[in-house]
Amino acid sequence: MTAVFESGTVVAQETLSHDIRRMEIHLPKVAQTAQPGQFVTVRVNHLHEPLLRRPFGVAGVDMAKGNFSLIYRVVGETTQLMENLEPGAEISVVGPLGHGFDLSARHGLLVGGGVGLAPLHFLAQADPGHNMEVIVGGRTKAEVFWSELFRDKTARQYETTDDGSYGVKGTVNAVLPDLLKTGQYDCVYVCGPSPMMKAVVEVVKQYGVPCQVSLEKYMGCGLGACLSCSCEGRGGKRMKICKDGPVFWSQEVVEW
Ligand code: FES
Repeated sequence: MTAVFESGTVVAQETLSHDIRRMEIHLPKVAQTAQPGQFVTVRVNHLHEPLLRRPFGVAGVDMAKGNFSLIYRVVGETTQLMENLEPGAEISVVGPLGHGFDLSARHGLLVGGGVGLAPLHFLAQADPGHNMEVIVGGRTKAEVFWSELFRDKTARQYETTDDGSYGVKGTVNAVLPDLLKTGQYDCVYVCGPSPMMKAVVEVVKQYGVPCQVSLEKYMGCGLGACLSCSCEGRGGKRMKICKDGPVFWSQEVVEW
């Protein structure tokens, strides 16, 4: 699939929490070709824009309208510029990029935290029966608003918070083993902070369920040219997250 390199138009911006925004972008070539797990890089058309593009996992598409969405945390210069874009503003997009999720599972369990839930949201949207289930992890009640976004796209949502202010107290691993014990899932999909993902992979391994991880790392180019995003695969093999991933089977990656 060929990535497009052109300008999209901001259609809408929505505030999901104090520092999380959802941006809808009109760019039919991306909306109609993006697969769950793929990402785009963006650059804000602005005089004082940062030079480098920033990667964001596609969070959903509306093929009929030719729109796709990004869910991003406002942190740093690019995202501060992004949140100030009004509908109608131009935004430079390259994508869709990378290697998305294997979609052959019949009953998947999604496990995510923070903006790592964005690509999982697209995956749930693309599931025709919407019968996946999702564990949404956050530090506090304010961070598990994601559950509401998944409500009409998944069969069941589970929430965990570090402080116990909502759902089960603890990390996503506070509920994961009991769910895996039921033997009903044929794949676990994980995306979020690295320590969380590594802990989830360890638990899933014990139950012998196939597991796909969507890795996040600083990316210089997003196109396989700069080596800034490398991770270690089995046998010491170096892999590029932007090109070989960002989605891998968990047994393919050793360190990231
Ligand atoms: Fe440049 Fe992956 S970001 S090689």
